[in-house]
Amino acid sequence: MSVKQDKDEKDSEVLDRKELSKRRFLTATTAALGTAGIGVLAVPFVKSLEPDAAAAAASVVTVDISEIPPGGHLTTSWQQKPLIIVHRTPEMLATLSQVTSQLKDPDNKVPQQPSYAQNIYRSRKPEWLIMMQVCTHLCCSPTYDPKKGTVSSTWLGGFFCACHGSRYDLSGRVMSGSPAPENMVVPEYTFIEGGKSIQVTGLDKKSKLC
Ligand code: FES
Repeated sequence: MSVKQDKDEKDSEVLDRKELSKRRFLTATTAALGTAGIGVLAVPFVKSLEPDAAAAAASVVTVDISEIPPGGHLTTSWQQKPLIIVHRTPEMLATLSQVTSQLKDPDNKVPQQPSYAQNIYRSRKPEWLIMMQVCTHLCCSPTYDPKKGTVSSTWLGGFFCACHGSRYDLSGRVMSGSPAPENMVVPEYTFIEGGKSIQVTGLDKKSKLC
């Protein structure tokens, strides 16, 4: 073998090593990018499985209340349970102080509502009642009956549960003599969009639907 041939073979070997090294680098880089891609894709998938986040997202309900006239109401649902929104008139609000002596818990001492709704209206704003329409006795859904004198001659309007005869006033406060033990639950909510909508976000941990 000539000196020149020997040099050519060594040069070729060096080139092969460089090519092999380059390919290894590219393979490693591609693998790393692939892993990074999986990482990026995996984040939303993993996030979608986080129970707290999923539960929180599912528990938020937004309701447009701008079309409910005074005296009107709207029924919808939260977590597949009936939710009622009543736009109370001044006359309806006046009945709330007239039934106090007939109520089991007129001052809402049992935490069946958020602290901001622990008032005679059980609400952030007197005219709006936002409440789970679930009887605290055995979970029936009481009928909303705002007309005076319908359930009894002294009836001033409220909710009547035909299952076992529980009666509630226009704030969902249970009346004495009813089998239901507590007032109906007021969920946590906020007014949004300048009061045109409400956003129901959950239940106070201490409250009990039925
Ligand atoms: S479930 Fe309402 S009175 Fe029994």
